[in-house]
Amino acid sequence: MTTRTPFIAGNWKMNLDHLQSIAFVQKLAWSLKDAKLDYGTVEVAIFPPFTDLRSVQTLISADKLPLKFGGQDVSAHDSGAYTGEISGAFLKALDCEYVIIGHSERRTLHHETDEKLAAKVAAAITHGLVPVLCVGETAEDLEKHGPSAVPVAQLRGALASVKTGANIVVAYEPVWAIGSGQAATPAQAEQVAAQLRATLAEIIGEEAASATRILYGGSVKAVNIAGFMREANVDGALVGGASLDLAEFSSIAQFQKHVGT
Ligand code: 13P
Repeated sequence: MTTRTPFIAGNWKMNLDHLQSIAFVQKLAWSLKDAKLDYGTVEVAIFPPFTDLRSVQTLISADKLPLKFGGQDVSAHDSGAYTGEISGAFLKALDCEYVIIGHSERRTLHHETDEKLAAKVAAAITHGLVPVLCVGETAEDLEKHGPSAVPVAQLRGALASVKTGANIVVAYEPVWAIGSGQAATPAQAEQVAAQLRATLAEIIGEEAASATRILYGGSVKAVNIAGFMREANVDGALVGGASLDLAEFSSIAQFQKHVGT
């Protein structure tokens, strides 16, 4: 088990509009309250589409809900002629604490390079957001280079300009496990997470590396979360599909109930 505060995050991707987001967040908060979730022992965050953020912020702030939230991407630029982009300053103004950077869908579908991601990480930090940096290998990478080489290289690339002591979250998401129903094994996730942590120590220093939460993502469900959370270097999960199912996500957030069983 981790000694860091576990982090359970739901990446909604392009699902749920702002009205649906309000209903979902309200029900999630009720479900976790009913279950008497101790938010001191687990941080629960959601990453809705940009158009939901204002509604989510308003609800969370008005009802003082102990949930965190953030954007799914951020511009490398502060402001200006960048049609369609969202600045870190705008996310911060909506009380976002976190922002996902470098999800494999953005690396693949939007051709985001390590260099571009390094600029996004720098922009997020400049605006006081904590980057949730995603790294992970494809099935082909796994066959050719083994499990750690590509995620470690992506980590180095995206963190090229961060300083010692930087506050970040890393999500290890093997591309072959995303949306496939075929999660990595806890041992596989632990092996890569340990490598990532060792690399982080070189980049941001031992102390910050040992404080950094490293999440696993890829076909996480209520039935397999406990296995990941029992590993020493896995500090939480970045959940896709199952984060859209209230009962599933609520149960994943309550992983402590399953870990001991
Ligand atoms: P799934 O949980 O649907 O496999 O998605 C994982 C993911 O991409 C989270 O960012």
